[in-house]
Parts: sequence; C-alpha cells; structure tokens
Amino acid sequence: MKNQLRIYAASAVLLFAGSSLVQAQNQKMFVVKANEVKAKVSPTMWGLFFEDINLGADGGLYAELVLNRSFELDVPMMGWKEKKEDKAEGSYLILNRGNLNPANRRYIKLESSTGNYGLSNVGFRGMGIKKDLQYDFSILARQHEGSLTGIRIELVGEKGAIIGSAKIQPDSKEWKRYTVSFIAKERVDKARLDVLLDGKGAIDLDMISLFPKDTWKERKNGLRSDMVQMLADMKPGFLRFPGGCIVEGRTLDERFQWKKTIGPIENRQMVINRWNMEFKHRPTPDYFQSFGLGFYEYFQLCEDIGAKPLPILNAGMACQFNTAEVVPLEQLDPYIQDALDLIEFANGPATSEWGKKRAEMGHPAPFNMTMIGIGNENWGPQYLERLALFTKALKAKYPNIKIVNSSGTDPKGDRFDFLNNSLRANHADIIDEHYYGTPQWFLENANRYDNYDRKGPKVFAGEYAAQSDKIASPENKNNWLCAMSEAAFMTGLERNADVVEMASYAPLFAHIEGWQWTPDLIWVDNLRSYGTANYHVQKLFSLNKGTEVVPVLSDNQVVAGKDGYYASATIDKKTNELILKVVNSSKEKQECEFRIDGAPKLNGKAQLTVLSSSDLKAENTFDKPDAVSPVMNQVAVKNKVVKLTLSPYSLNIMRVKI
Ligand code: AHR
Repeated sequence: MKNQLRIYAASAVLLFAGSSLVQAQNQKMFVVKANEVKAKVSPTMWGLFFEDINLGADGGLYAELVLNRSFELDVPMMGWKEKKEDKAEGSYLILNRGNLNPANRRYIKLESSTGNYGLSNVGFRGMGIKKDLQYDFSILARQHEGSLTGIRIELVGEKGAIIGSAKIQPDSKEWKRYTVSFIAKERVDKARLDVLLDGKGAIDLDMISLFPKDTWKERKNGLRSDMVQMLADMKPGFLRFPGGCIVEGRTLDERFQWKKTIGPIENRQMVINRWNMEFKHRPTPDYFQSFGLGFYEYFQLCEDIGAKPLPILNAGMACQFNTAEVVPLEQLDPYIQDALDLIEFANGPATSEWGKKRAEMGHPAPFNMTMIGIGNENWGPQYLERLALFTKALKAKYPNIKIVNSSGTDPKGDRFDFLNNSLRANHADIIDEHYYGTPQWFLENANRYDNYDRKGPKVFAGEYAAQSDKIASPENKNNWLCAMSEAAFMTGLERNADVVEMASYAPLFAHIEGWQWTPDLIWVDNLRSYGTANYHVQKLFSLNKGTEVVPVLSDNQVVAGKDGYYASATIDKKTNELILKVVNSSKEKQECEFRIDGAPKLNGKAQLTVLSSSDLKAENTFDKPDAVSPVMNQVAVKNKVVKLTLSPYSLNIMRVKI
C-alpha cells in the first residue's frame, strides 16, 4: 500500500550467505531423521488467498463478459456506447427506480425511431472470445408500445467483423428474462458486444449479460475454467476469501457484506472496488464489485477444489490506511450477527433460516466451514475491543469454530508486538501474520518460527510475497529471486508445522491490463493464464506436503541459510514416502549428501523435482510461460544415502519410498 510504513529495507540486495565463497570443495553432509516425528503437518498447510484485486473477480475469475451489465457503476454508461447503424436514430435514458429495487436501482430505456439503434459494450478489457465455443446471452427486458421486431445481439471482432449473432423477440410489457445462445466463429482477444433494436419502439433493458459456455463445470453464472483449473492443480488446503483490504472497504459503507452477495444475481448490490483508485500509478475507475462471485460461489469453489473455506469478515472497522472509520461498540451487534449467520449459512440445516437460503441456491448439504476470520490487517486497541465482542458471541454459539485474528500489517514492530502479545494472552485460536518484504528478508527469516511458543496460538501466514522493488511498487517482478527466497522461507514454515498451520501467497490473480498490485501468483489476459515462478513454488510445496515433519540436520543444527542451504523434510504416511525439500540459494552448484536415518534398508531410486534458473531475474510470461518450471528426474539411493548435485539457485524436492 502506497503510504504504508513497512519495516523492511527497500532494496533487494543479492548477497546470499556463502554465494561465491562456498564452493563444492566440501561435500556437505545432512542427516534426515526419518523416525523422529517433530510435528503433524496440518492438511490446511498450503492454501490460497483470494481477493478481488487486479480484476481478480470481475473481469477475471468471474466469467461475465459484459462490463457494467446493470448500469450501476458511478457513471451509469461506463463500458457502454450508443450504437447507430446506417444513420439510425434513437435515444436512451437511464432510469433509477430507487427504493423499488435498492440493490439494482438503474436500468436503461432505449427508444428507436428507425431501427438499427442500440448499445455497444466494450467488456472489461475487451471480451476474449474462443472460436467454435457457445456463448450464452441473457437480458431483462420490458417492452413499451411500438413495433419492435426484436433485439439483435452481435459479437464484433477487432476489425469489425461479426463473429457471432442471435436474435430475441421480447413479448411482454412486464420485466422478463430472455436468453439465447450462439457459436462464435473466430477467436478474438478483444471483441465487443452490440445490442441493437430492430424496428421502431421503446424498451427497458437491464442485466445485459454474456457468458462463455465453458465455465468451470459449465455452471451458469460461472467462473473462468482455466483460472479455476490452475487453483485446482495446486490441491490447496484452504481458500481464504474475499480478501484482503476489500473486506474492510475504504469506508464502512463500502465494506464487504456477505449477505448482499447471495441470492439472485440481479439482487446483489454493486459496490465500488476499493482498489479502483487506490494507486495513482494504476487508476482503474471502472473497477466495481458485481458480486456475481458471491459467498455461495466461494463456498462452492472451495468444495470443488478440495479447499477448506476460510471467510474473513469485517470487524466493524474500515481500512485503517483509508478512513479508519470504526463502528461504535454499542452498534457492533449487526456485524456480529453477520458472522453468526454466516456460520449458519455454511453449516446450518436446510431448515434453519440461513441454511435454507443455501439450500435454495442449490446446496442443501452443509459446506463444513471450520474457521472464520474476524478482520483483515486491523490493529490497535480498537481492534481488540471489537474482536473480544465477536469472540464472545461466536464461541458461545459455535465453540468449535476456530477464529482467525489479525496481527496487523507487519510481522514486527510496535503494532505487531502489541497485538501479538495481547492475542496470545487472550488465547487466540489462530493469528494471521503478513509479510511483504525483500527477498533478503525472506532468506533471513527462514528460522522465524524455530523458537516460537509451541503451546500458544497457531500461526496463519496469511499473506506473503517477496517484493523485488518495494511494497506496492509497480516495478515489483515475479522473478526467480523472489520465488526462490519464498521457497527458502517456506522450508522454515514447514519445519515449524506444529506452530504454522496455514500459509498463502498474496495476491492470487492479476489481469495484465487491469492490475493495481504486483507481484501476483497467476497472471491472466482475456483468454490465457500462466503461473509465475512463485506459483510453481507454491504448487510444489502443496503437492509435496506430507503428513509429519521430521528433522533435517547439518552438524546437529536445522538447515536455515548456512552456506546457502535451506531444508525441511516430511513423511507422507499415506504413501509411505520421505519428502525432502532443499533450496540452494548460492550461485554455485553444491554437492551434498543426505543420509536417511531411522528408515529400513534403503536402496533404489528417488524422484527429484527441480525448479531453478541461473538467472535470478528470470520470469514467466505469456510468451514464455514455462521459462521457470519444474523438471523431473531420478536420483539413486544407496545404503540410505542420496547424493545430490544442487544447481545454483534451485529448489529441489526429493521423494523416496521408505
Ligand atoms: O494483497 C494485497 C493487500 O496487501 C491486501 O489486500 C492487504 O491485506 C495487504 O495490505
């Protein structure tokens, strides 16, 4: 965030312990104690942080192609243009029905005096259209007197060619939904949608919508399947949603309110996206939240990808970097009620008030939510006071639900110490720590949890990402240096899995033309998506999680940076494998040996996955999405010893049956 006083040094100094001095002269010996279980790895260890930032939801994961489909943005015609074909004549009027439908006040009246008059929508950054794919159009319409012969829908390519079309014939003087589908003839990166009246007359229109058929699981009102697939491929342990600062809002009025995000989509009230004008260097004035991706869909997504849901709710506080408004304590009850009702919505029987709403949306079975977060990056006594009231009410009704507490914005300093000490004294369930630091910070803090209190609250590393320049700088890159330093740090999280229960990189998605914040885990354009080097690190840790932590030692010490080595190891009880993760942050190739103690006779082959680049500035891009990507290999195990030659700047993951 622009004005944030982060404590990290701003520059990424590329001085790694032992980089040039440590050569392969000495073959380094490590011991893995395969029968000394130190901790259980939580099934939720590696997960996802989702926020509607960088066109993460609208214009991204949420597959709606029409921008401002119900004319609710501050500028009602944003995204729309009048369209007059062949000297057509007509006019439009934006109407506001006010309290008749407070969640969707505006609609448009089109009046055509010649035919061929209508509207054109630009999409979020154009509309990405796939050849031979079906597109589903829908609209709410109410016809006036006149002789309209129909509404023509035309998908238009960048050079003006019509690449798909359909027609509907409104037949009611009452609001009615009409739908039609058509096949696109071409692939176009940036198409537009024209909606034209044939004949003369007037008509009211609202909720003008276009979806590709190939949404995730082909659901109506669905999600972009390529983007969900990338998440599913990571097999995440949890999904934290909906943010991030978006939970708080710039003002309390603009905070995220989950109850306004469920039910029929035309009744989900649009709210400004607090990221739209947050950064002068990346203004995004057309960024709003339609909530087409609402809380029901988040829970459904969690279920689809096997992730535990972790919703974060507003603690009665607007973003402290913005207005810092708080709700008076005596008026906090509705906020607390929202939290209680959310648990009923997720878990309650279909006969309960909120469980019934879930069932009506298509999911009678509970979503099995076990955790809830109260507040994002909130700090100060005002947070603790509000949190205490939430905690009392939640624990009284749902003693088994774990509550995630904020420790503020930074992992050290007065703010952190005050909150961390207070939360620990209050026996918090889980404390959410955030780190946006230099790569050097990540390398130097791989031992952060080695001496943490083992009996206190669990830690959720809720947001982290190495910043190649400085926090919130548009110059930050998803380069290999950042990804590798995160991998080194993550060996420390894994080693301390008895303390750290969950971890997630942030933010998750960014649209190449619509981002506000970088670095991000996955980059997309209208049709494509790719995983950064950081994505591969996250995915490799998640796919190679294991169930129990065992020690990896060098000279009886944990391996956390000396000579450029970082290591952790787990056993996977389900597959009976030892999983070893080693980072070589040195610029030199390193020869080393791992002796696996406490396992029966071990000979044969181990599988080795290596993620590396000799260029610390290497990045994946749309043109070279696999520039930094994992390579699989095999290595020999002889008499319980594995000899590894670690490439410079590499993450190495070895799996061996024990
Ligand atoms: O991840 C981007 C932002 O960083 C989050 O919204 C916020 O929690 C943090 O400051």
